[in-house]
Amino acid sequence: MKILFTKLFTLTILLCSTAIYASEQTLPIPPILNNYAKDDKEIYLSLDVQQGVTEFIPGAANKTYGYNGSLLGPTIRVRRGEKVRIKVTNSLREHTTVHWHGLLVPGDQDGGPHQVIKPDSQWTAEFVVDQPAATAWYHPHGIGNTASQVYKGLAGLFIIDDDETDKLNLPSDYGINDIPVIVQDRRFSKDGALQYLTSMTDIMQGMMGNTILVNGVINPVLTVPTGLVRLRVLNGSNARFYNFSLSNKQEFHQIATDGGLLEKPVELNSLILSPGERAEIIADFSKFKTGESLKLIDGSKQILKIVFDGKSKASTELPKKLTVIDKNSVNNPKKERDFTLQGMGHMVSINGKRMNMNRIDEKISVGSKELWSIKSNLGMMGMMHRMRGTVLHNFHAHGTQFLILERNGSPPPANERGWKDTFFVRDDETVTIAAKFPYKGIFMYHCHILEHEDNGMMGQFLVE
Ligand code: C2O
Ligand code: CU
Ligand code: CU
Repeated sequence: MKILFTKLFTLTILLCSTAIYASEQTLPIPPILNNYAKDDKEIYLSLDVQQGVTEFIPGAANKTYGYNGSLLGPTIRVRRGEKVRIKVTNSLREHTTVHWHGLLVPGDQDGGPHQVIKPDSQWTAEFVVDQPAATAWYHPHGIGNTASQVYKGLAGLFIIDDDETDKLNLPSDYGINDIPVIVQDRRFSKDGALQYLTSMTDIMQGMMGNTILVNGVINPVLTVPTGLVRLRVLNGSNARFYNFSLSNKQEFHQIATDGGLLEKPVELNSLILSPGERAEIIADFSKFKTGESLKLIDGSKQILKIVFDGKSKASTELPKKLTVIDKNSVNNPKKERDFTLQGMGHMVSINGKRMNMNRIDEKISVGSKELWSIKSNLGMMGMMHRMRGTVLHNFHAHGTQFLILERNGSPPPANERGWKDTFFVRDDETVTIAAKFPYKGIFMYHCHILEHEDNGMMGQFLVE
């Protein structure tokens, strides 16, 4: 057994160390999706899910998927209170769905596995956005093909704005000092062909690439003014966890979690994000001069090079207080539930069960508050992961934003004390969360390692 582990480990290292080379490319900024507003409060949007061709390195054409293009999707941007109608056309040759990860919407508008869109068909989601400003995202959620479709390129940001956040005077010039940063890893062969699931480890741990992409490109460079810069970071990877920091070791502040603003900016040197999680961070780059640069890194891996153009933006100051989180809204839970994450590879499960579309695992009354305990129990395998400092699973629930109360009995770190919808769970750790369920319908909870999700590490709850 021990030898097998060592071999798998060596293999992983080998695969990780052979990133494909590409010359520097300007970081593309996903365009804001054009909307047609019928009146003040009603917004019409449309997404076409399509296949296209992407050359990640010049001359190497890959078949990829995108929304309204060949890779990734436009940023959907709406204000709290608006009613949106999003018409989705499936131009692929396989079924898909579009799930609004992080949005509070009724179950039948959630875009989970029950809202299948067949090839050449349409689905229109319709909901009122009623939650605080946040950086959410959208991606496919079909049974068995979520991982491969995200890997081929299906993902986009979904930004919610509100008046409260506008008043804070945060950096908010989209693409200038308010930057979408979708971080994903992909595996390429030496000649630039995109590869998927080529080894045992890919099934065991989920698909890890050898090359990092930001907003769909290899070796990206972002040019920004000096002063405060806000990065809206999404870990859009299938399975990779990141521990982000800045190459000059300077600190930065996290201002928002998955579901919106933290009560106050939290100073950090590094930030862990597991697949599906988002964080808005602000770094103060006032001291940099024209042409100077630094890097957003993950350990020794470069994620994004940041260059300063010397044009200073009217210097905003980071507010001391951002918002008030109404903890009472999830206080005094009516019910407690336990979820145990188990296994690896094909053997993953939650509470010993694998996803079954015809089985409702939990029933919840609408509007109620609940206390959930999520535990990861990997047995023998857990020891190896603890030794290596790797984490194998995380947990995401639809139809709710919750607060993390405790990690193994202690309060969570300051940067996890905001509204969350996704968090990682270390082996042998129990994470307790307080959640409320505002909308009726069927919703999913699952590990957001997409290969685990596709292998059945998912369950469903009915809110009624
Ligand atoms: Cu990001 Cu159930 O999904
Ligand atoms: Cu989700
Ligand atoms: Cu998992």
